Amino acid sequence: MSVHKEVKRVTTNTLQEFKDSGIKISMLTAYDFSMARIIDSAGIDVILVGDSASNVMAGHETTLPITLDQMIYHASSVVRGVERALVVVDLPFGSYQGNSRLALESAIRIMKEAGAHAVKLEGGAEIKESIVRILTAGIPVMGHLGLTPQSIYKFGTYTVRAKEEAEAQKLLEDAALLQEIGCFSIVLEKIPATLATKVAQSVHIPVIGIGAGNGVDGQVLVSHDMLGITKEFKPRFLRRYLNMYDEVQNAVKQYVDDVKSQNFPSDKEQY
Ligand code: KIV
Repeated sequence: MSVHKEVKRVTTNTLQEFKDSGIKISMLTAYDFSMARIIDSAGIDVILVGDSASNVMAGHETTLPITLDQMIYHASSVVRGVERALVVVDLPFGSYQGNSRLALESAIRIMKEAGAHAVKLEGGAEIKESIVRILTAGIPVMGHLGLTPQSIYKFGTYTVRAKEEAEAQKLLEDAALLQEIGCFSIVLEKIPATLATKVAQSVHIPVIGIGAGNGVDGQVLVSHDMLGITKEFKPRFLRRYLNMYDEVQNAVKQYVDDVKSQNFPSDKEQY
């Protein structure tokens, strides 16, 4: 008899069941083993190994520089820390756009080398062929519409997307297309709440929002933002649940003081 407690894993089917029964989906990013273990053990449904690793782990200004090899490194670390959550991994910039064969090869590497459960790609009709080819290989795909940070140099700004009728209409059409070709879910980033609600009601697959209001089927945040590890980033949609930057800084200051004053280690902390 196994002494290990059986954990029921979250699958893409679980997320669909959640939407169908009105249960909201919780999703957070993680990029390393230790954080993934904490987040998973707290009961999160989906862990996204986001290309936001480029910003919060590597310190780049945009998500563009992160490579497929680096995403695989982060993703394989996360997978080792997860027992329950569905692990979705971003295909990084340059690993899928405009070449469906390359897209499939990139997705296969993520599934094979990292042990991920699904991939996420940014865009709609423009990347249809890439998504279809990945899906044909049996790899689940999550779409990502609205503010798509890999296109930041096209947008020129990180402000709210799809406020104008034409862009809103294209987004609705893209969401319908992603559902039709077989994506299991869609992330909507930074769009008006009314539009996001309309999208969530117009497709049967789960729609997960970030800065997209409360009318969608679930929420995702970057863990470094909601834990307050990032300090300056303060968009309206972000709720901080911790102030880790200050907490960690205070702990380190205390440690420095203790070392300097020889308060650490004490008699009990040595051999
Ligand atoms: O990379 C990321 O963290 C993301 C989320 C913002 C959805 O794509």
